[in-house]
Amino acid sequence: MTVRDSFHSRIGFVLAAAGSAIGLGNIWGFPTNAANNGGGAFLFVYLIVTLLLALPALYAEIYLGNQAQKNPVSALGEACAEKMPKFGRLAGKIGLSGAIMMLSFYTIVAGWMLSHALSAFVALLGFNDISQWLATDSTVRNVVFTPVFIILGAAIVHQGVHKGIEKWSARLMPILLMMLIGLIVYILQQDGATEGLKQYLIPDFNQVTDPKLIISAMGQAFFSLSIGVGGMMVYGSYMQKDKDIGKLVLSIGALDTFIAFLAGLLIIPALYVAQHAGQEVFVGNQLIGEGQLIFQILPALFSTMGAVGLLVATGFFSLLSIAALTSTISSTEVPVAYLVEEKKMTRAKATWLVSGVVLIASMTLVAFFDQLFGLVIQVLTTMLQPLSCLFYFIVVGWVWKRGNKLRDKALQGEQRWLGIWGNYLRFVCPILLTVVFINVAF
Ligand code: PFF
Repeated sequence: MTVRDSFHSRIGFVLAAAGSAIGLGNIWGFPTNAANNGGGAFLFVYLIVTLLLALPALYAEIYLGNQAQKNPVSALGEACAEKMPKFGRLAGKIGLSGAIMMLSFYTIVAGWMLSHALSAFVALLGFNDISQWLATDSTVRNVVFTPVFIILGAAIVHQGVHKGIEKWSARLMPILLMMLIGLIVYILQQDGATEGLKQYLIPDFNQVTDPKLIISAMGQAFFSLSIGVGGMMVYGSYMQKDKDIGKLVLSIGALDTFIAFLAGLLIIPALYVAQHAGQEVFVGNQLIGEGQLIFQILPALFSTMGAVGLLVATGFFSLLSIAALTSTISSTEVPVAYLVEEKKMTRAKATWLVSGVVLIASMTLVAFFDQLFGLVIQVLTTMLQPLSCLFYFIVVGWVWKRGNKLRDKALQGEQRWLGIWGNYLRFVCPILLTVVFINVAF
């Protein structure tokens, strides 16, 4: 029998899980979604949904993986062993395809980050034409940079959990944090920033009940915490059994939400500064260019900094590429762990196989960008991930009996707080999630 690889310390797990959570979802997805959905109202709903639903779902996902010490397909299969083993495994496989879906668009956006980092760097060296090409959106650019990014990710996953992921997730995020804070201080001094700040921090309470806003905020929260595709489950399985998951979930949630909040504090005022300077940013309430907009706004912001602007741009986009890399590896780990454990493949073979599938999927998105890119993101974040979370709640609360300590505690009324928590997961979470769905559907 082979010994499963694992994180060597609690802090190793926290760093890797935070590395998975903090990524393009925070710095690209959150501000874009917030700007498109009224700013403050989105932030308000996002915080509530994170607290009431996303953190409990993160808990349930890590708990399932940690107890099983197996890949998500086997973990869900085992948890459902008494009542519906086939369905459990099927749900695990659906999550696994969610991970591939996530990678199919994520690697494209990560490729944009890479090309912008390189663009600023070559401009520093004086190659302005190349820099211009790298900063301009094109299919050729996607065809070059998406595969480059996929190969980078595969090279790390290939090395295994301890050597690869733990080491890579380690010390780069504090630098990103400091850079974000520095940029926020800079942008807030520009004309027009105050209007953006108000837009971001003062919610319009007429908007907070809008079902479209609520489902977007929920999808964004699940995506940002990497839940619903098995990424956190597989990391939970690499952690020693029976650790105090509650505290881990709180630290990962706090870090991730703080970074998303800061990204909004940078980008939304930056949008208003650009608007103040005469750039068209919104048509009605919708952002122009949606996902692409921050790639116009941020370089424009850096260019106002004079000579250091290019250095800042190189650093910022490089750090974002690294943040994207640590998120990519957790998602890739889902199918890789499954293939290694269940199909007895070597880690190397599994990694390259999965990367090949991701390459085909992402190139399909590049080829049919207008039709597929937004659609895949929407299906994943507003349907597949929330439905997976609903499934986790039902499994942890109702289906999984043998070995489910949380359920025992909840039923026996032992350890009061754990009991309350168990019952919250059993009753409140699934009902709340269903209510959101019904609200959106009707
Ligand atoms: N949480 C990541 C982000 O915010 O960028 C995205 C992500 C990573 C989603 C891993 C799902 C996953 F399994």
